[in-house]
Amino acid sequence: MQFQLSEEQLMIQQAARDFAQQELKPGVIERDEHQKFPVEQVRKLGELGFLGMMVSEEFGGSGLDAVSYVLVMEELSKIDASASVVVSVNNSLVCYGLEAFGSAEQKEKYLKPLASGEIIGAFCLSEPEAGSDATSQHTTAEDKGDYYLLNGTKNWITNGSTASVYLVIAQTDPSLKHRGINAFIVEKGMEGFTIGPKENKMGIRGSDTHSLMFNDVKVPKENRIGENGFGFKFAMKTLEGGRIGIAAQALGIAAGAYELALAYAQERKSFGKPISDHQAIAFKLADMATKIEAARMLVYKAAWLKDQGQSYTLAGSMAKLYASKVAMEVTVEAVQVHGGYGFVKEYHVERLMRDAKITQIYEGTSEIQQMVISREILD
Ligand code: CAA
Ligand code: FAD
Repeated sequence: MQFQLSEEQLMIQQAARDFAQQELKPGVIERDEHQKFPVEQVRKLGELGFLGMMVSEEFGGSGLDAVSYVLVMEELSKIDASASVVVSVNNSLVCYGLEAFGSAEQKEKYLKPLASGEIIGAFCLSEPEAGSDATSQHTTAEDKGDYYLLNGTKNWITNGSTASVYLVIAQTDPSLKHRGINAFIVEKGMEGFTIGPKENKMGIRGSDTHSLMFNDVKVPKENRIGENGFGFKFAMKTLEGGRIGIAAQALGIAAGAYELALAYAQERKSFGKPISDHQAIAFKLADMATKIEAARMLVYKAAWLKDQGQSYTLAGSMAKLYASKVAMEVTVEAVQVHGGYGFVKEYHVERLMRDAKITQIYEGTSEIQQMVISREILD
């Protein structure tokens, strides 16, 4: 058993750390306050190869492993989870989905610009009445021969207005239930495709979340991903890896808040000594550090299993369930360590606390992770 990162992984981790400090930290409070998407920062992330990290070089990606990917997610999320969710969706949902299951033509046309960061993508499964219960898709894709006619509404779509390419899950044959679901590549600008207003959110406010409306959108047959009826399995297989990315985001949010609390506790004095000298604060820091380390082990292990070509369904769900819980617990304590200063924006921890909550909701709520884990261990 090895607990050491390779030279290359350490370099990538450092590059992401530097990027987060130099490019994400300036303006992060304003972007959160004004719900401003990090346009320029995402462009630079693309130039660095962080938007197609695991895509093979043949398709314009960086050809890196999943461990490197979670290291980058962790470092970016310490500073700006609104930017890191763009990285997560583009890498582990959109690029992975296309590379693993797309046709040669789809990879050439869509994966290449997505992996190089020229454009970004979105993954569209959730609907107003189908979130956790993802098999009950109401969006329909009627087979019309050369094309499918897409009708319905998708909800909460990350990169909703900034994406150029959307992977959309829809029901083709309701009589077959989940086996009649398909996944399609939809381009922005296709006739009948409209984007709803931006959601005003509690956290990850810089991220761009929208509902999407499809009204008789003609999607060419060659834009269906995989065999007829493969759409639900496509979504599940893709989300397995996505959950590792969100687990790494949760880990980074927790680690970012902990680092701020650790520094603050050694500077701030009360009763004639640094507050870290009070056992109540020192023990909080000890608990935070321990939980973060445990979460890190789960996240890295899930990524490592993926790299080894082994099953990571169980490990990915465990990592997401635990790391997101730790993100909530640690960020709440980080605010507490900061006292009143923690309650104002300038000290960053209140934002990290608000951002932490989403990691227990998207890409499968904590209850859904418990469902996946319990099924795996009872099977
Ligand atoms: N891999 C492959 N196939 C899978 C699978 C997996 N991991 N999990 C399930 N399936 C298959 C099953 O084998 C079954 O197919 P067959 O009948 O052909 O064997 C089919 O899918 C249905 O499976 P279940 O009976 O287990 O389905 P279920 O209705 O009980 O639901 C669920 C399973 C795990 C709860 C699923 O609905 C789920 O994951 N829900 C959560 C949805 C979710 O995570 N949404 C995230 C949206 S994206 C997002 O959020 C992005 C973002 O924020 C940034
Ligand atoms: P519901 O499914 O209605 O769940 C409500 C509550 O009931 C939850 O606590 C849930 O855990 C619980 N629950 C439901 N069923 C069960 C059960 N069987 N057992 C126990 N508890 C249960 N989706 C996308 O497709 N693409 C995206 O890019 C995307 N980005 C998102 C970004 C943001 C900011 C947000 C808020 C959401 C995003 N989502 C996205 C949607 C997200 O994946 C869903 O919100 C999530 O899957 C939960 O679905 P829901 O909101 O419908 O909640």
